[in-house]
Amino acid sequence: MPQRLVVGITGATGAVYGVRLLQRARELDVQTHLVVTPSGVINVHHELGLDRQALEALADHAYAPGDIGACLASGSFETAAMVVAPCSMRSLAAVAHGLSDNLLTRAADVTLKERRRLLLMVRETPFNLAHLRNMTAATEMGAIVFPPLPAFYHRPASIAELVDESVERVLALLGLQGAAPRPWQGVGAA
Ligand SMILES: Cc1cc2nc3c(=O)[nH]c(=O)nc-3n(C[C@H](O)[C@H](O)[C@H](O)COP(=O)(O)O)c2cc1C
Repeated sequence: MPQRLVVGITGATGAVYGVRLLQRARELDVQTHLVVTPSGVINVHHELGLDRQALEALADHAYAPGDIGACLASGSFETAAMVVAPCSMRSLAAVAHGLSDNLLTRAADVTLKERRRLLLMVRETPFNLAHLRNMTAATEMGAIVFPPLPAFYHRPASIAELVDESVERVLALLGLQGAAPRPWQGVGAA
């Protein structure tokens, strides 16, 4: 059976992370199951010029956020992991409080209850106390909170390189075979 990855895209800025994850998953022969919120569709279009149809074409299967009867809503549908990229503070709050108010947050709830890996690429700045508390709650439940904060020590030459560096680390953290984040080789004293 192919490795199945659930991908959620919400209305936080950073739509490129979700898109690159879908593209890399395809290269790694990972089967993707995509849920995009209405705000996610707005941001993907605003930031990348892709409409819902073009975005969903990057995934193997796509579901409407209101399709709460879809296979992703049940733990009996076996998946390797789920990633929400980018993850808004609204969706983070819904996950942290177990709201399951749409298919994306229900799939995240299922991922946690089945003790599978859930990674949230949360994005906001600065954080208020609710955001911080919700990140703590999600972490306490077993989720991995991975804000898309770029590292500069590999001296990236482009935004695409910056994005891909994080995407590869996320794929590796999700336990997907073939992901190959670039290891830090160390540096001598100045
Ligand atoms: C251009 C734009 C950028 C946004 N960026 C963020 C963001 O970085 N983080 C965030 O939490 N919300 C952001 N929002 C607000 C969310 O889209 C909004 O809270 C929405 O209700 C989230 O719903 P969802 O989680 O169902 O996608 C942004 C909205 C717009 C229009």
